[in-house]
Amino acid sequence: MAFALKVNGDTHSIDVDGDTPLLWVLRDVLGMTGTKFGCGMALCGACTVHIDGVATRSCVTSVDSIGQSAITTIEAIGATATGAKIQKAWLDREVVQCGYCQSGQIMSASALLVSKPHPTDADIDDAMSGNICRCGTYVRIREAIKAAAQSTVRGD
Ligand code: FES
Ligand code: FES
Repeated sequence: MAFALKVNGDTHSIDVDGDTPLLWVLRDVLGMTGTKFGCGMALCGACTVHIDGVATRSCVTSVDSIGQSAITTIEAIGATATGAKIQKAWLDREVVQCGYCQSGQIMSASALLVSKPHPTDADIDDAMSGNICRCGTYVRIREAIKAAAQSTVRGD
């Protein structure tokens, strides 16, 4: 079945079964491998992308449910003001260890800051609780989100 998916500002024509998870369209059809597979059951957050700005688990999002909504992936989040601030804060605080979960972490964190520019600890816990990190980078993730929230200049 043919679909026209809006991904990172471009429209892609694809031909897949309608129940194909978005994750596999991104990775296998479009070659965007920044979005990771972890559990395939909406339990780990590794596959998080934005759909119309909302952090969404792409492993359980069928391609036929997306319609004209705009998809943003880790490949393009740095082009947004909030994404740039998040990525800089991640680098400044050396958040990443193995890195496997971090695409999803950054996508959830950037969606949080767009909806709540100055999140409380409870807001951060609520928004990030579905993103699992086997390396235990949670403390640095929280620090980086707070630093990004305090940054007023793009990428500063
Ligand atoms: S791979 Fe989607 S939540 Fe784990
Ligand atoms: S940095 Fe290794 S799983 Fe999170």
